[in-house]
Formats: sequence, C-alpha cells, structure tokens
Amino acid sequence: MVVENLKNSRKAAAAIEPMFTERWSSKSFTNDSLSDDQIASLFEAAHWAPSSSNKQPWLFVYATDGPDRERFNSVLNEQNCKWAPNAAMLVLVFARTVGEDGGKIRTAQFDTGAAWMSFALQANRMGLNTRAMGGIDLDAAYAAAGIDRASFETVCALAVGAPGNEEDLAPEAREGNSANGRKDVSEIAFKGKFTS
Ligand SMILES: Cc1cc2nc3c(=O)[nH]c(=O)nc-3n(C[C@H](O)[C@H](O)[C@H](O)COP(=O)(O)O)c2cc1C
Repeated sequence: MVVENLKNSRKAAAAIEPMFTERWSSKSFTNDSLSDDQIASLFEAAHWAPSSSNKQPWLFVYATDGPDRERFNSVLNEQNCKWAPNAAMLVLVFARTVGEDGGKIRTAQFDTGAAWMSFALQANRMGLNTRAMGGIDLDAAYAAAGIDRASFETVCALAVGAPGNEEDLAPEAREGNSANGRKDVSEIAFKGKFTS
C-alpha cells in the first residue's frame, strides 16, 4: 500500500511485486493506537517465516502503553528517542541462539530477520509503518522484556504504527525522513563467481 503522505519515489529496475518498493521505514507516526486484531495479524505474518529445521528461533515482546511501554522506551538510544516513543507499539526482537537441547542455532539471526521482513510487509499491506532500530541498549533489553540472556541474543527493536506526516515528527528528527535507494543489483548478485 502506498501511503500518500510519505515521500517515496522508489522505482524497481526489474519486474517485482509493488510491496517491495512501497515498504519503507518512516520515523513519523500518528498517535492512533493499534487494535488487538491488527497486532495479531502482524505477529501471525511474522511467524509463518521460514527457518532452519523449522526451529522458529524468533521471539517478539511488545508494549503499547503503561509501565511496559515506559520500560521499553528507556531502552532506546538518544537518536531513536527523538521519534520512536510516538509509535503506537514498540517490539523488542530476540533470536534464540541456543536451542532447548543446548545446541547452537547457527541461523537464528537470519531466521529472525526473515520473520521481521514478513512482519514489515504485512504491516505495509495494512497501511502501517515500521522501522527497525539497532540503536538500543542491547543489555537492558533483556531485563525490559524478561528474557533469559543465556539462550537469546537481543537483535533490535521495532517501532510500529500508523504512518504520520512531517508535522507528526519532531523537527530534530525530520532530516532524511524519506525513502532511500539501494546499490545496483549488479553489486550484490553474481553468476558463478564474485567479481569486485
Ligand atoms: C537491523 C536494523 C537496525 C536499524 N537501526 C536503526 C536505528 O537504530 N535507528 C534508525 O533510525 N533506523 C534504523 N534502521 C532503519 C534503516 O536505516 C533503514 O531500514 C534503511 O535505511 C533502509 O531504509 P528502508 O527501511 O526505508 O528501506 C535499522 C534497520 C534495521 C533493519
């Protein structure tokens, strides 16, 4: 879904589904809350992602308001504090890197990334905006979400909500808030052998 109040002029160089260029990560959110059904749809999409041996090593802990939300906001770094507290929901994302049997799950971060992309595309289809954040206190995230650090790695946080326009964004966070571009595909995909 193209959100008209956000700046996105992305063009694909080959035939792809429009959702791939329509999704982008704005920092601007309205103060509309998310319904339980909307939240359920986002995690439903995320959990259909593929994973190595179907181990589904992703873990999402979310907060919308109240003390949970204050605790989650406190994990954000200074830059992300300028805009992410406006989003209807914050999600802390963890990857289970040690399985129930004590074995290492080598692809846990990769699998969790797949789940995040499913979440983000579903959000876009629903007219919602998402932005991931690595700029968080990775250690504090464990306590904020009640996660056992022996089995999980903190990956990132997600800001999720209805997309806002420029006025919904604090002036100090406005710069560069538009859809960015990508390297040429010839720089990232090679037939047979990598050539620099
Ligand atoms: C794992 C990850 C960490 C990120 N960390 C931050 C962050 O801390 N703060 C921020 O404003 N954006 C962050 N981003 C957003 C990226 O800058 C953004 O996804 C990238 O520029 C590509 O833009 P797009 O998502 O609009 O396609 C992060 C994105 C990812 C996937």
